[in-house]
Amino acid sequence: MSISNTMWVEKYRPQKISDIVNQKEIVGSITALLKNVSEMPHLLFSGSAGIGKTTLALCLSREILGERWREYTLELNASDERGINMVRERVKKFSRFAGLDTEIPFKIIILDEADEMTGDAQTALRRIIEDTSKFCRFILIANNISKIIEPIQSRCAVFKFTRIEENDVVTHLKEIAKKEKVKVDEDGLKMIYDYTEGDLRHAINLLQASSSLGAVTEENVKASAGLTRTSDVDAVLKLAVAGKILEARNKMIELIKVYGMSESDFLKYLNEAVYRTKQPNLAEISQAIAEYDYRILSGANPEIQLSALLAQISNLGK
Ligand SMILES: Nc1ncnc2c1ncn2[C@@H]1O[C@H](COP(=O)(O)OP(=O)(O)OP(=O)(O)O)[C@@H](O)[C@H]1O
Ligand SMILES: [Mg+2]
Repeated sequence: MSISNTMWVEKYRPQKISDIVNQKEIVGSITALLKNVSEMPHLLFSGSAGIGKTTLALCLSREILGERWREYTLELNASDERGINMVRERVKKFSRFAGLDTEIPFKIIILDEADEMTGDAQTALRRIIEDTSKFCRFILIANNISKIIEPIQSRCAVFKFTRIEENDVVTHLKEIAKKEKVKVDEDGLKMIYDYTEGDLRHAINLLQASSSLGAVTEENVKASAGLTRTSDVDAVLKLAVAGKILEARNKMIELIKVYGMSESDFLKYLNEAVYRTKQPNLAEISQAIAEYDYRILSGANPEIQLSALLAQISNLGK
């Protein structure tokens, strides 16, 4: 089973615009725009984390572009360290490839974290948007709209997403719990909402985490919200040392993605676990942990680095 199947946030990410929770006004306006797709402007989605911005962008692509939507959709992250030149290169290549099929009105470029771009980069982005407008529509996503330069804002239809209201969060969590055959009680759900304050991604993750403790009760929600889950890190180490590299990696990713453990905490607990369990190759493993800790601090991709670390530990275990 892949990690995206085990994570409820992905498993239950809406595929259709009509399945989006809350954001009624936005869904209404977007649906209206879809009546005349060829006239659709560029879009700018703003708002806090976990409330449906990326989800709606993907639904929109699917609905406009049909079955082969993936081929005609380019997803980019603007905060990528390679910067605006990477964006320019990728957009250029993408807008050029193949001729436009008659069955699609335009290609779609989803640019996440656009507010992380510097002013200069945004000015360059504005040129890129203009140069490719004939064949492409942009969906820009930003947490903080005030960091987007005015000339870009004025070229887009702007949609400000709001946090999801308590009723909608609770109803949505109940639906998921029912499908997963998990026991929930009202106090547990209320506690999830109190912790997550309308961030639906966080709420679903907390639902999953607390249900793994048995049932979604107030007590279990509290426990999983504050939990450091060191025993799970022990389990990752054990799997890695036993050479079960895939299982170790899946569990590591689950800890980080579902339970929100930071990469540096993961390494810290791993280091403690190595000494506590008195591993035979203690020195080598400890050295490896230090090396990967340094690499992540220097900006290397944490998921790749931690996977490589587990692979190395598994080699040392042989
Ligand atoms: N409005 C919503 N309706 C249904 N599910 C949602 C909604 N918002 C968030 N979710 C759930 O949370 C997950 C994350 O949502 P999404 O990726 O759309 O967040 P986002 O607003 O783009 O956040 P970020 O700013 O962190 O990128 C989805 O996979 C889905 O399971
Ligand atoms: Mg997003």
